[in-house]
Amino acid sequence: MRPDLAAKYDLRVPRYTSYPTAPHFHPGVTGETYRGWLGGVDPALELSLYLHIAFCAEMCWFCGCHTKITKRYAPVAAYMEALWREIELVAEALPTRMTARHIHFGGGSPTILKSDDFVRTIDLLKSRFLLKDGAEVAVELDPRTADEAYVEAMAGAGVTRASIGVQDLDPKVQQAINRIQPYDVTERVVEWLRKYRVPEVNIDLIYGLPHQSVDGLLKTIETAVEGFKPRRVALFGYAHVPWMKKHQRLIPEESLPDTNARWQQYELGCRLLTETLGYVQIGLDHFAAPDDAMAVALKEKRLHRNFQGYTTDSATTLIGFGASGIGSLPQGYVANEGEVHAYQRTIASGGLAVTRGIAINDDDRLRREIIERLMCDLEIDLDAVAGRHGVDGGRFDAELAGLAPLQADGLVKVDGHRIAVTEEGRTLVRAVCAAFDRYLKAGEQRHSKAV
Ligand SMILES: C[S@@+](CC[C@H](N)C(=O)[O-])C[C@H]1O[C@@H](n2cnc3c(N)ncnc32)[C@H](O)[C@@H]1O
Ligand code: SF4
Repeated sequence: MRPDLAAKYDLRVPRYTSYPTAPHFHPGVTGETYRGWLGGVDPALELSLYLHIAFCAEMCWFCGCHTKITKRYAPVAAYMEALWREIELVAEALPTRMTARHIHFGGGSPTILKSDDFVRTIDLLKSRFLLKDGAEVAVELDPRTADEAYVEAMAGAGVTRASIGVQDLDPKVQQAINRIQPYDVTERVVEWLRKYRVPEVNIDLIYGLPHQSVDGLLKTIETAVEGFKPRRVALFGYAHVPWMKKHQRLIPEESLPDTNARWQQYELGCRLLTETLGYVQIGLDHFAAPDDAMAVALKEKRLHRNFQGYTTDSATTLIGFGASGIGSLPQGYVANEGEVHAYQRTIASGGLAVTRGIAINDDDRLRREIIERLMCDLEIDLDAVAGRHGVDGGRFDAELAGLAPLQADGLVKVDGHRIAVTEEGRTLVRAVCAAFDRYLKAGEQRHSKAV
């Protein structure tokens, strides 16, 4: 990527983990709307379940996740009571005992749970949903809060994938983000995961962190890949949004790499992961071993994108449990109350805790598929996609015309109704998607940097 283009397209555009994107959810969609939508779901559909564990033991200053710090277990225990009740309420609202093919524990830190509570949650899910054979059960794992007994319990409960937060191995960076996690701490968790036969191990890394250098990042990548042998690596760009996440103000702006340095870290990081270490790049920030299901899905154009980012999960109905949990139903999107106590109160009174959402129409469904295909495949035949929705690809001529500046800069190729993002344009795929976003108005939203 040429530095002049990096500067020119320092755009702030959505990450497109949904369409319409979350800022367009509104309070007109309530718990009662959600109950009606759940009742109308086709019983034959397979579900994906997301459980949000909204607590951590300590705040990492870079954190952009929805979490609350607690030193005591009582608030976590009270939260889990509500989460279990919510599982019952949702299961009752669905037309039948439905099949789940994908379960994801995210956070916050699922590893803050007592292992008994983790196992109880899985048991409850298994009693209220039919867990499909070969279903993926994934857990985001903070090595600082997972002991051997926890890993053993997770494995015993059927966890198939652990995504480990590593971020950066350099002690100076770890200090600047308030996340002290020596190499050995991660290594020992990986050893336990292997010992108890959790089949898949992923790691999360971040570039653009305070005091991070290109050399330091490359060393982290090499050391982590060699030591932990992950099947997948996520290399996220640090999203610095101190106006939304107040604790990020503890990271001085001057300690952050500038836009050019971020580009360099990203580019060289990608090259190391692909050219030297043999991973296949997925979209912007994911890397998978060539025989991994995600790399295979990419090749076969079966990759998907949901609130957790890139996924092989093709379920069209995703149920989100917990404070701030987001769901995607055939009728539209729903988001739960984010404030833990308010969430718990609503659930305790027998209500569903949805406070925002958006019903979607046919135009949204079509644009959602266009954006998802662009994000996943980096190319699209508009005629084919529009045809699946019973409309003509010619409907998007104005959007195609809007891509002219990106085309002139060699970031995208347009041939009739076909769009192909060039390798140079990969990092700006979100800007290509934005041309199809009917809700996006210039300057309306403030998102993190495109890269
Ligand atoms: C919910 S956290 C993972 C689980 C666990 N709490 C942990 O930190 O190990 C999911 C991942 O999001 C990424 N992340 C969090 N905040 C971020 C930010 N501001 N910018 C970019 N990535 C971020 C981190 O890589 C983190 O591992
Ligand atoms: S990065 Fe993970 S452990 Fe750190 S505060 Fe965020 S959710 Fe918690």
